[in-house]
Amino acid sequence: AQRKQIDKVLALFRLTQEQLVGVRNKMRVEFEYGLKKDTHPRATVKMLPTYVCGMPDGTEKGKFLALDLGGTNFRVLLVKIRSGRRSVRMYNKIFAIPLEIMQGTGEELFDHIVQCIADFLDYMGLKGAQLPLGFTFSFPCRQASIDKGTLIEWTKGFKATDCEGEDVVDMLREAIKRRNEFDLDIVAVVNDTVGTMMTCGYEDSNCEVGLIAGTGSNMCYMEEMRNIELVEGDEGKMCINTEWGGFGDNGCLDDIQTQYDKEVDEGSLNPGKQRYEKMTSGMYLGEIVRQILIDLTKQGLLFRGHISERLQTRGIFETKFLSQIESDRLALLQVRRILQQLGLDSTCEDSIVVKEVCGAVSRRAAQLYGAGLAAIVEKRREDQGLEHVRITVGVDGTLYKLHPHFSRILRETVKELAPQCDVMFMLSEDGSGKGAALITAVAKRLQQAQR
Ligand code: BG6
Ligand code: GLC
Repeated sequence: AQRKQIDKVLALFRLTQEQLVGVRNKMRVEFEYGLKKDTHPRATVKMLPTYVCGMPDGTEKGKFLALDLGGTNFRVLLVKIRSGRRSVRMYNKIFAIPLEIMQGTGEELFDHIVQCIADFLDYMGLKGAQLPLGFTFSFPCRQASIDKGTLIEWTKGFKATDCEGEDVVDMLREAIKRRNEFDLDIVAVVNDTVGTMMTCGYEDSNCEVGLIAGTGSNMCYMEEMRNIELVEGDEGKMCINTEWGGFGDNGCLDDIQTQYDKEVDEGSLNPGKQRYEKMTSGMYLGEIVRQILIDLTKQGLLFRGHISERLQTRGIFETKFLSQIESDRLALLQVRRILQQLGLDSTCEDSIVVKEVCGAVSRRAAQLYGAGLAAIVEKRREDQGLEHVRITVGVDGTLYKLHPHFSRILRETVKELAPQCDVMFMLSEDGSGKGAALITAVAKRLQQAQR
């Protein structure tokens, strides 16, 4: 009887082929809405023009600073690009962003960022250097050019005040001025998906899609200019940052959402928003698992029916723990040890159930990602009028990199849902900073040509 109750909960996370096709088709509809000039009142996938119009061609060169804000780590980088040989050298330093800064005032946040830049320049012996800077800022921004980006709204774990509706490049410039110690030429602001696509595009010019499966969930791709109503001109292509994390915010995923998804949403910093992201990305998967475990414990099916304080603590299941728990090489005893480390006292049976719960949640996430990705590669295929298409997808993010099954299930799902597309996944080894520097190099060249 106990088994039956557990299976009933796990079954909520099993999606049929038909449901996945439904998700793919709905995502496709949202892409089309988002590209229109008059945004549909129920459109939730923002489809933001990025003003990045081509892949690096190997002639880029120079020394650049890059910032990488919004993933697990905040990084400051120095990127040296040599033309011709496509060789890039990078130096970087990781800095912490304390919670009180992530959720403090905008001024504090940008002052902190500039403090980190100052430390980095010092550390690299570059004090006083005036370098062009590319800013990877992994949040939804409305752009009117490559060096302007108005933050639409914070997502994930950020909630600094007085930033939404403001240009983040201006905010950074002002913070640099306040410090009055060095001058930097901020040339480009790019989303992490775009930086990732560029990083991979430097190696493989077939790379037309950038995917992040990390703290957050998002995708960008190269779109035909003629399909982008918001930007003038019909020639060539431009990269669109889809911000697909907001998919479902109009209720179109309600049929597959579980009570646990709703609880996670309600306990988040942005209730009602980013619903697809909350079903798929690293910041939330552990929370879904925790909600299920609480419910199973309430039903007396786990932890001897005792809900510990630990289990009630938000954020205990980070991506790396989920990944460890699901590792096939791990004996159950080790699963128990991980749970113990998390402060959860489990029996052997408990650890079997916990592992099953993790598996069900991450499997659904990978399948949902696959459905979204299938929608974009199919769109690209149709738009080019091709029977078959080959596309490379540049990918980054801890969920993709650390999880033992995520990438395989993602691949399998795309194959099933987009059988006429040959999709190659290319892991970004260098993060998005390299791509941001390449974009900066191109923008700088164009800037100079215009003068
Ligand atoms: C990093 C990129 O490698 O991956 C970042 O440089 C990106 O720009 C990040 O945001 C995404 O993964 P995670 O798991 O750190 O959110
Ligand atoms: C969130 C952000 C998006 C970013 C993604 C991955 O969805 O809104 O801009 O690309 O996380 O980091």
